[in-house]
Amino acid sequence: MLYSGKSADGHHILSSAKYLHKELPVRIAHRIKGFRSLPFIIGCNPTILQVHELYIRAYCMLSDFPAIKEREIEAQYSRLVQQLLDDDKDVVTMLAQGLRESRKHIQDEALIRNFLDTTLTSRLGIRMLATHHLSLHEDNPDYVGIICRRLSPKKIIEKWVVFARRICEHQYGNSPLVRINGHVAARFPFIPMPLDYILPELLKNAMRATMESHLETPYNVPDVVITIANNETDFVIRISDRGGGVPHAILNKVMDYHFSTAEESTQDPRVSNLFNTITNSGPQSGPMHGFGFGLPTSRAYAEYLGGSLTIQSLQGIGTDVYLRLRHIDGKGESFRI
Ligand SMILES: Nc1ncnc2c1ncn2[C@@H]1O[C@H](COP(=O)(O)OP(=O)(O)OP(=O)(O)O)[C@@H](O)[C@H]1O
Ligand SMILES: [Mg+2]
Repeated sequence: MLYSGKSADGHHILSSAKYLHKELPVRIAHRIKGFRSLPFIIGCNPTILQVHELYIRAYCMLSDFPAIKEREIEAQYSRLVQQLLDDDKDVVTMLAQGLRESRKHIQDEALIRNFLDTTLTSRLGIRMLATHHLSLHEDNPDYVGIICRRLSPKKIIEKWVVFARRICEHQYGNSPLVRINGHVAARFPFIPMPLDYILPELLKNAMRATMESHLETPYNVPDVVITIANNETDFVIRISDRGGGVPHAILNKVMDYHFSTAEESTQDPRVSNLFNTITNSGPQSGPMHGFGFGLPTSRAYAEYLGGSLTIQSLQGIGTDVYLRLRHIDGKGESFRI
């Protein structure tokens, strides 16, 4: 993707569309097969069924689309792809909701985890390919499709720090400061899209833990410290908070889909007061935390891209989360999407 050249006559866009035209129906068919293999009781859940039908509809529209031989057809195809991307945008929430309702009927935890890991990472791959094609139409010298030629980890972290602090302040009345150190000047080619999902999730978790472990002193909370380490093979982003750590008893559960302590913390009157007055939403909702999808989804995405996400809990002090991602042009093997 990075080295596919640009041609003045737009030939590269046409060949990219031809590739998608072949590739997308295959990938979507695999997702449909995944829905069809779910236990009957889960497949009947109305929300799961809705997503299943969304994929069937997408499959039909994409596989019925005529061969792409000229730019005009390509423009139509791109509009269709954009529309399908828009239709798909709430799918993670829908799956989280549908499975939360229906998973109690079956005992097999591994089945749910495998289904979600595969469905969510494959969806990320599909969205990356589709968005890459659409972005080839744009003329931004810093980008090749969805690849930023000189991505600055510090810049993208800062963008999501602003976002996470805003919703943290909205919910807790204050938010921790974030300091960034290490390879702050690093720049390299990378795809922002997975970072745009993972970083806000990790930052929200760190800020929530910080605020909820300092409920008596919300205006004096410890900073979150982020370290960037870049090398020829990969880069690491470590997010360290002083939010008390992940307790021993739940450490092996926090990576499970649907595991969340959101409900418990809203039962703490000091926290629930904040939630009810400010967000007026139920205990499960709210943008700060909720479904227990932040960590497992982030780890699945990181592993899909050849990296990893690990947690070190210093119980009583705080948590270090290590996000490791492979370079796309680094030493050793890169990753396939
Ligand atoms: N930095 C952290 N410090 C302490 N506990 C944490 C930290 N990060 C996560 N946790 C614990 O792990 C649980 C699961 O985290 P996860 O991000 O997957 O779900 P969530 O934040 O509850 O909901 P959401 O789906 O909105 O992210 C949290 O509910 C919290 O109890
Ligand atoms: Mg979270």
